[in-house]
Amino acid sequence: MEHSAFRSIMHNPQLNKHGELQHLLTIDGLPKSIVTHILDTASSFVSIGERELKKVPLMRGKSVFNLFFENSTRTRTTFEIASKRLSADVINLNIAASSASKGESLLDTIDNLAAMHADMFVVRHATSGAPFLIAKHLNDTRQHHVHVVNAGDGRHSHPTQGLLDMYTIRHYKKDFTKLTVAIVGDVLHSRVARSDIHALTTLGVPEVRVIGPRTLLPGGLEQMGVRVFNNMNEGLKGVDVIIMLRLQNERMNGALLPSAQEYFKNYGLTPDRLALASPDAIVMHPGPMNRGVEIDSAVADGPQAVILSQVTFGIAVRMAVMSIVAGTSGE
Ligand code: CP
Repeated sequence: MEHSAFRSIMHNPQLNKHGELQHLLTIDGLPKSIVTHILDTASSFVSIGERELKKVPLMRGKSVFNLFFENSTRTRTTFEIASKRLSADVINLNIAASSASKGESLLDTIDNLAAMHADMFVVRHATSGAPFLIAKHLNDTRQHHVHVVNAGDGRHSHPTQGLLDMYTIRHYKKDFTKLTVAIVGDVLHSRVARSDIHALTTLGVPEVRVIGPRTLLPGGLEQMGVRVFNNMNEGLKGVDVIIMLRLQNERMNGALLPSAQEYFKNYGLTPDRLALASPDAIVMHPGPMNRGVEIDSAVADGPQAVILSQVTFGIAVRMAVMSIVAGTSGE
């Protein structure tokens, strides 16, 4: 085993002893070679026209359990489409109607589903670290053949969103090493922002900016390799990519902002503000969007927006992640 692979395993419970991706839990600490391999594999699933995706037998006979303990439109649906395109059997557990609502613990639920011969759990949970807990439990109980893919945990990590964002940026901008990327808004509560920052710095983007009010920016951003701006007009100057974030009202404790109107006045992406960026800048948003709060409809529906392309690329990226993870031995 290479020294770099050994170091990765020590810091990264998602890698097996060969340095391969056994689970996808976070982009933090993921080697650049693995990130690039996922993006390249996703490319192979996108056919001419970027709309039709090939159906392949890579996961025939495998069972993928979608466990969404928190609401989702894009992620859950594209994981389901991706599973079907890989020829897997998909089981969408209805959490509200499951025994989780009767007090069954998360790990008891996992053990029971594993006893039904689950091969992969796709997990979204409001608690940061829940997918890590499941992956650790599976490893500790020697169920190495069962894989976990994090579909978003609390405010911690949303790795497949980060990867589909990177796919989208590479598609439109080609070379990461010449870009200035701005992430705008509620970074404090955003798992997408954290995943994007890790992915962008791993892929060699020379300037990653974070723009937002002080109350919505966490400490330690500079240590993550980003430049912080509280003034949106300053922060947007000359950027190539703008990633807008939703105000995560459901994760806020107390009033961190005067009002949505005030927020839009200072941090909403309007056509005038977009004109400060590079003329060919692209506008991204992970969704769901709050029109008139963080983004003006004229921008969201305008020619520089690639927001729906992000959703489409999410299918190929999730196919890539699942097929790569399922192809590892786990031991
Ligand atoms: N971007 C994203 O995670 O959207 P959903 O909550 O709809 O899955």
